[in-house]
Order: sequence, then structure tokens, then C-alpha cells
Amino acid sequence: MKKREIKSLSTSLGRRKGIKTKGFPRAIGIITGGGDCPGLNAAIRAVVRRADRAGVPSFGVLDGFKGLYEGNFRPLPPIEVSGIVARGGTILGTSRFNPLKDPKGADRIREHLDLHSIDCLINIGGEGTMRLSHELHRHGILCLGVPKTIDNDVWGTDFTFGFDTAVSIATEAIDRLHTNAESHSRVMIVEVMGRHAGWIATYAGIAGGADAILIPEKEFYLSRLLEIIRERERIGKRFSIIVVSEDAKIVLDQDGGKAKMLHTPMHHDEYGNLKLGGISTLLEKTLRQHLAMEVRSTVLGYIQRGGSPTAGDRVLATRLGVAAMELALEGKTGLMVGLKGTKIVPVPFSQVVKKLKVVDPEVYRVGEVFFG
Ligand code: F6P
Repeated sequence: MKKREIKSLSTSLGRRKGIKTKGFPRAIGIITGGGDCPGLNAAIRAVVRRADRAGVPSFGVLDGFKGLYEGNFRPLPPIEVSGIVARGGTILGTSRFNPLKDPKGADRIREHLDLHSIDCLINIGGEGTMRLSHELHRHGILCLGVPKTIDNDVWGTDFTFGFDTAVSIATEAIDRLHTNAESHSRVMIVEVMGRHAGWIATYAGIAGGADAILIPEKEFYLSRLLEIIRERERIGKRFSIIVVSEDAKIVLDQDGGKAKMLHTPMHHDEYGNLKLGGISTLLEKTLRQHLAMEVRSTVLGYIQRGGSPTAGDRVLATRLGVAAMELALEGKTGLMVGLKGTKIVPVPFSQVVKKLKVVDPEVYRVGEVFFG
């Protein structure tokens, strides 16, 4: 769009509504960063609709922070977000791109934002997006954060949207794999996502009645796993379900004080980010060496991130989107909105980026009651 067209769009929307804003923000930019997840569109819709009520025009930044760096923006009037609350993925596109790798990145971004009169960005993403938002804010680019990720590992919020949907999908998969395991008397390994936190494995494992849950936060010995499976066999249970999180480490044996581990094979994506996945295949091979029983593994992969969000995720995404926009209208930035109990609260980026929210040992302990 030409500069003149952009300026007139930014001001005409407010006038058309006859709403008086305090003049801040003149316009808002919305970004979805990192992996896609169910609920992103609900959050985008919430920001746009709340902004529109205040007479503030919204712009969507295309393809995540790559679009921010390249100045790839699109006006988002309410009609553009109509009917998307139930749609998975993100209408804006996303990427795992860091514009600050270029020393001139912040200047470029400022120019693009000035051109569109965007005073504040609402960045919807996981911990990587929150870290980047914190950095951008320190460069004087005003940002707010909305946490999302199926991994549920963002510090400062009890839950992220996307998680509930992923757990439902993983639980349904475990239920379905149960019938195969039972019919064929097999050990069935189900690998789920989660990066360095085992939330999906823990929740889906509890909900699906797993016989063992392996997560990155908790060391698990192969000998213990074999014991669980054999004990089940002894009492007449001829199958076992093992849920493994993609970054789980399984201790093979203690060799002169040095433990040998089974761990995800190392890969990197096109941006150099660590890619996890493949532990279930390694575990399957290892278990076959020790058991007479058949062993099979399934990697759920991107299915966990796809499709329509649950009602719970739609509501959470909508509440967070509205809350973020309301903070922008109050002129408050440098914050992420998070769920604390039943309330949505602001949390400074400086706190969010300090650590990862890993699995609560109390919750994992509940799962352990049912091992074996
Ligand atoms: O969204 C988080 C996540 O699902 C992780 O659990 C997983 O390791 C990662 O994204 C993989 O995503 P991609 O291949 O899109 O980078």
C-alpha cells in the first residue's frame, strides 16, 4: 500500500465509528510467531474486534517476525476476521525468524511501523516470541504479548491456548492406540510434542490411562520401564501404553558412574533452531531387544497442532486477545497477558523470559500412581 493510503486508512476507521480515543495507539500491529496452534485466529479476531470498538485500526503482519522485518503488512478491518474463531492455524501466517539477527533490524522495523502509524505490536506466540518481544521493547518498539503454544511452557501463565486442544487430540490418539495394543498384545509407544517441557505427555498420559509417562523433567530408567511392563504381564495385562515426550531422556545403564542415555536425535530447521523428535523409534528398538512382546511406536507430530480449537482454547484466546488490546488502550506495554487462576493478569516480559514453565511435580506424581 502507498504511504498516503495507509495514513488515511488509519485515521478514517476511528472517525467512521465516531469514537474518541486518546490518540494512542493510532494503529495496532498483530503478529503470530513460532509454531502455529489452535486458537491463534480466535486471538487475532479478539484483538481486532476490541481495537475496532475503540476506533483503532489493526494491521496484520504476515508470516510472523519475517513479515515485520520485510514490512509485509495487511489492513485487518473486522470483516477480515469474521467467522475465524473456530478455524485452526493462523490467517496471518507464521515463521521462526529473528529480525534482530540483523544489527539494522530494529531500525528497519521502526520505519515500517512509522509508515503505517502503528504505535504498538501485539505479539501472539510462545516463549521465543516473548523473548523477542522483550528485546524489541528494549529497542523502543512498543510490544505486548499474548501467550500461545501447545507445549504450555510459557512462564507467567497457568495455561497457554492450544494446549487443551493438543491434549484432547493426544488423548483420543491414546484411546485409539489402546485398542490395537490390547488386540495384538503389544507395547505401544506414543510420542508427543512439548519441547523441553512434558505437559502434553503428562496430561494426555493421565487422561489416556498410560502405564508410563516419560518427560524431560524426570529421569526414567529403562530398567524401571521393563519392570512396569513385565509386572503388568505377570498380572495378566498383555499390553502396555507408554507416552513419551519428544525431549525425554531414558537412562540405559550406569557405566562406571557415567549414565548412557536414550535421547532425541539432533536436527536443526532452516533457521538453525533445534528440532526434536524420534525418541519413540529409538525406544522401540531398545525395548525389542529386551522383550518377547511386540513393540510399536507412533509419532503424533503436527496432528497435535492442527485443526479447530476446543471451546476452552477459544475462550482463553479471546480473553487474552481482548485483555492485551485493553492494555494497549491504557498505554501499557512491555507486558504479557497471562491466566492466573481464573483472572487475566499482566506480567512484565522481564519476568516471563527468566525461565520456562516446566511440569509441576505434583501433577506428574498423580500420573505415577498408575504406572504399571
Ligand atoms: O509449537 C511447539 C512445537 O510444537 C514443539 O513441541 C515442537 O518441537 C516444535 O513446535 C516443532 O515445530 P516446527 O517443526 O514447526 O518448528
